[in-house]
Amino acid sequence: MIYPIVKYGNPVLETPAEPVTVFDGELKKLVEDMFESMYAAHGVGLAAPQIGISKRLAVIDVTFKEDPDAKLVLANPEIIHTEGKQTQSEGCLSVPDFRESVTRAQKVTVRAQDVKGKWYEMTGEDLLARAFLHETDHLNGKLYMSHVSALKRDLMKRKIRKLMKAGEW
Ligand code: NI
Repeated sequence: MIYPIVKYGNPVLETPAEPVTVFDGELKKLVEDMFESMYAAHGVGLAAPQIGISKRLAVIDVTFKEDPDAKLVLANPEIIHTEGKQTQSEGCLSVPDFRESVTRAQKVTVRAQDVKGKWYEMTGEDLLARAFLHETDHLNGKLYMSHVSALKRDLMKRKIRKLMKAGEW
């Protein structure tokens, strides 16, 4: 099932999500639906709050279907190590048609549970490091705008409010 993506302005996106405690068939189905929804929206990462479900669960595939082994499920992720810096243009499916330059760590180690509840650690660089940070932020109720300058953020919010008023958001 493809879920519609929740957009900026919906409070679920700015609410810290609840831990995943049950790793059952229902969670497996939700993860499958999240991958399907992410691909349908042309994204490389999706957090459960972005489909209106306030759970600490995210999916990532920075290869966008190229490599089945690159499909990652992150339940209850924690960032345990960061290193270096990278500045790249970043976007979010919940803030469509906007992109901003965001500086983040270049190398990131995450600790998370897979779909069966098994804990694992993984280190990613560049885009994968960025995805670990971006998706974990989502689960803490934080959007990528919080990493851009106040000036740029205000400008983005103004543009979004205009789109909202025009019924185009
Ligand atoms: Ni996002």
